Formats: sequence, C-alpha cells, structure tokens
Amino acid sequence: MIHPAQWRSVITGVGGYLPQCILTNYDLAKIVDTSHEWIVERTGIHQRHFAEENELTSHLCAKAAQCALKNAGKDINEIDLIIVATASPDLTFPSTAALTQKLLKNSTALAFDVAGVCAGFLLALQVADNFLRLRQAKAALVIGGETFSRLLDMEDRRTNVLFGDGAGAIVLEGMDPEKAGDRGVLGVHLQTEGQFSDILYTDGGPSLTGKAGKIRMSGQEVYKHAVVKLTESAVKMLAEHNITIDDIDWFIPHQANVRIIESVAQRLKLPLEKVIVTVDKHANTSAASIPLALWAATQDGRVKPGDLILHEGIGGGLIWGSALVRY
Ligand code: UT7
Repeated sequence: MIHPAQWRSVITGVGGYLPQCILTNYDLAKIVDTSHEWIVERTGIHQRHFAEENELTSHLCAKAAQCALKNAGKDINEIDLIIVATASPDLTFPSTAALTQKLLKNSTALAFDVAGVCAGFLLALQVADNFLRLRQAKAALVIGGETFSRLLDMEDRRTNVLFGDGAGAIVLEGMDPEKAGDRGVLGVHLQTEGQFSDILYTDGGPSLTGKAGKIRMSGQEVYKHAVVKLTESAVKMLAEHNITIDDIDWFIPHQANVRIIESVAQRLKLPLEKVIVTVDKHANTSAASIPLALWAATQDGRVKPGDLILHEGIGGGLIWGSALVRY
C-alpha cells in the first residue's frame, strides 16, 4: 500500500479561452485621460479581452475546461472534482464551479469555488492537489476564470487600464508515483495578511452593499508588496525543495505588470528568456492569468513535458505564494 502522501497529482491537459472582443490602449484613451505610451511604460500592457454582455465567467470557464479536456484526451465524465478560482462569479451563489459543471454536462463531480483573487489559481491548485494526493478524487478540473471588466470603474484610469477577461484550465490527475515519474505538483505555498485588505479591494459586496462594487487599489503599495513577497516566496520554495534557480526551466507568474515580473526575475537571478509573459496581450486577468500563460506556452511549444516550472501570484487579501510543478 502506497502512503497517500506519496500519491502525485500531474497536469495532463491545459486549456484556455479569451473572449473575442479586444480593447487596445488606444480604445481606452478615448474613454479616460490616458495614453498607449503611459500604459506600456508603466505596465507592459498593449491590449485586453473583454467579455460580451451575455458572456459570463462560467461560460469562459466551460470553454477553457473543454479545451483542457481535449488536450488531456479526457472525457468530462471522468472528472470528479471541479474547482473554479474567481473573484467575479456569475452570481453570489450557487458557485461558478456548479454553473460551469452544468454547462459541461457533468453531474457527478464535487464542484466549488475558491476566493484568492489574483492568487486564486494557485489556491485552487493547492486544494485540488491535496484532494488528489489523499485520493479523495481521481481527476480534477482546476480553472481560473474572470470577467473583471464587470468590476471596473470605467472612469478610474488608475485601474481600468489594467485588467481583462478570460479563463484558463488544467486537468490534474492523481497518479501512482511509478506512473508519474518525476512529474507532478511538487509544492504549493500560500500566505495571507488580512491587515493589507484595504490596499486592493472592491467597494461593494453582498453583505456590505448588496452589489459587487468596483475595484479600488493603491497601486504603488501593492507593487511594493508584490516584488518583496513574491521574491521571498520563491526563495523559500526553492530552498524547501533543495533546488537552485538554474534548475527552473520556466517562470510562469501571475501577469499583473511586466515591471513586477521582471523585477522579481532579476532579484531571483532568473534570465528573462525563461519568463513567460502574456500581460502584453491579456492584461491582468486575475485568477485566469497563470493558467492562460501556461496554455500559451504549451501551445507554442516552449513548455514541454518534464520541464520544471515556478509559478507565483499575489492578490487582494493580501494573499500570495508560489508553486513548483514538474509539467
Ligand atoms: O494583480 C494584483 C495586483 N495588482 C498589481 O500588481 C498592480 C500593482 N501596481 C502597479 O502595477 C502600478 O502601481 C500601476 C501600474 C497601477 C501604476 O503605476 P505607478 O508607476 O505606480 O504609477 P502611480 O500610481 O505612481 O501614478 C503616476 C502618475 C500619477 O500622476 P501624478 O500624481 O504623478 O500627476 C497618476 O495619476 O500617473 C498617473 N496615472 C495615469 N496616467 C495616465 C495613473 N494611471 C494613469 C493612466 N494613464 N492610466
């Protein structure tokens, strides 16, 4: 009998979906006092996708999930766990995971949401990994999906240029270590510091106002926390696994700002050729950004089976952390 802790969860498929409608920086400059040059210089963002009015987070999640299932060669009925990371759910309840499950025509899996905002995908990954390693589930869909465009105050140039909509998904399967080999989720570590909840938040919610509210952020404060906390988290993760930065094949972080990404990479002494960047095309898609970046890098052949990937992310909470995955 193999000890449950030795059981591994392995990524067997990656998928993504981006809404058709693209808004460039030039489009936004027609709405607020901003410019393409300012946005590119401060964030690296050139464009973002916005969902249509009738396109909901669950729709994006279902499309990303179908793509991941196809790439994994897996039938939806083989999935017994669906976790959606989102801060822009269709409804207050039921969960977006339940609504996604309905769209996918699965009726046997356990489906629920997790709320980790921009670190949400890593939280969903950690929860799914624990289910699979404990053999409480066999195959999971781990999805990050957002329609952050709905949470934007389109009159606030400090936030409305930063975010976009989309969904990314992985199929994560529990495996006997012999079958998994050295592949799998090797570690996930997250931490929360609620005392910083007032530097990135929405100014509404079901209990406070009865409405979702709009995003409010002290950009510079978040920026400073991001660089320090993400670097510390990565250093700790590498030390815990007794590996050096040279062992990392790819750095696939949350995509909020190219300056944060490059600054963390520099502090870790990680060459920029090993960094996957999608923030230029997708902007910040919150919980969707990491799986969308992974999807892009698997689609174009950069990330290959066996590659060692370092993920990390930070979001409103503050909640932040990193993950180490042998793809
Ligand atoms: O996903 C998780 C969380 N989010 C993040 O990680 C975001 C972290 N923060 C950031 O990425 C950056 O702080 C921002 C991109 C949000 C802002 O960049 P910044 O270099 O920190 O700019 P700032 O807030 O210090 O603003 C500089 C100036 C200000 O004008 P004054 O006061 O110097 O005259 C702003 O009013 O830029 C102005 N500004 C803009 N100008 C043109 C702010 N937003 C814009 C804009 N277009 N969209």
